[in-house]
Amino acid sequence: MLVVKGLKKNYGSLKVLKGIDLKAERGEVISIIGPSGTGKSTLLRCINFLEKASDGSVSIDNLTLEVNHIKKKDIRFVRSKTAMVFQNYNLFKNKTAIQNIMEPMTQVQGMKYADAENEAMRILQMIGLEEKRDVYPAHLSGGQQQRIGIGRAVAVKPEIMLFDEPTSSLDPELVDEVLEVIRKLAAERTMALLIVTHEMRFAREVSERVIFMDNGYILKEGAPEEVFNSNNERIKKFVGKLF
Ligand SMILES: Nc1ncnc2c1ncn2[C@@H]1O[C@H](COP(=O)(O)OP(=O)(O)OP(=O)(O)O)[C@@H](O)[C@H]1O
Ligand SMILES: [Mg+2]
Repeated sequence: MLVVKGLKKNYGSLKVLKGIDLKAERGEVISIIGPSGTGKSTLLRCINFLEKASDGSVSIDNLTLEVNHIKKKDIRFVRSKTAMVFQNYNLFKNKTAIQNIMEPMTQVQGMKYADAENEAMRILQMIGLEEKRDVYPAHLSGGQQQRIGIGRAVAVKPEIMLFDEPTSSLDPELVDEVLEVIRKLAAERTMALLIVTHEMRFAREVSERVIFMDNGYILKEGAPEEVFNSNNERIKKFVGKLF
């Protein structure tokens, strides 16, 4: 469903992605781990064209987009199939919880208000925040805000969800409630989830496949046990620090 081929990204003379090949099927949960500065965020941003890669292609369903021959309508297509969850929630401060979730449905998808409201209630239930429907972000905890952020991303019914360290700006006691929501999405198996995370236990437990990125390359990829038990010195050093 998602196929990335030969993806490269340079910032001036800095080569950040050096040729990434990656596939994700519907329902697959893939964690992307690796040292800081190795291009994990850049990879996610290039997949949904928040950032234009320097070379390579991204295919979603049966449409292949060569990054060097990309048109505006291609970008709209990719955006309609993907949703991104950021580290710092990015909620609208002047909108309530339910309004934040409804916004992409009414504004992007042109859904009727009543339908969007119904769907938003279903999502609020899924993320366990029905009672906060009319509360503004400033009055929600970080974990609650992030659950709304995930709810908003789910609202557009993406095929691919991209999570960039969704729990790393949370206090430790709020991490689990957010991971719980991601676990639920993983169990539904309706989307592919690509999760950049430093939560190694979560990566090990939830993902079917772990990708270890190092220095702009995929250094290793495989079942969690295979990657976490790797004999590669770089991986051993990184993983050993986190468990
Ligand atoms: N807009 C930009 N302009 C120039 N360099 C950038 C830009 N964005 C990222 N970089 C550089 O690209 C490299 C990879 O950054 P990226 O954010 O993808 O790393 P990361 O693996 O997500 O790291 P972290 O784990 O710290 O989030 C870094 O050296 C970074 O400084
Ligand atoms: Mg990053």
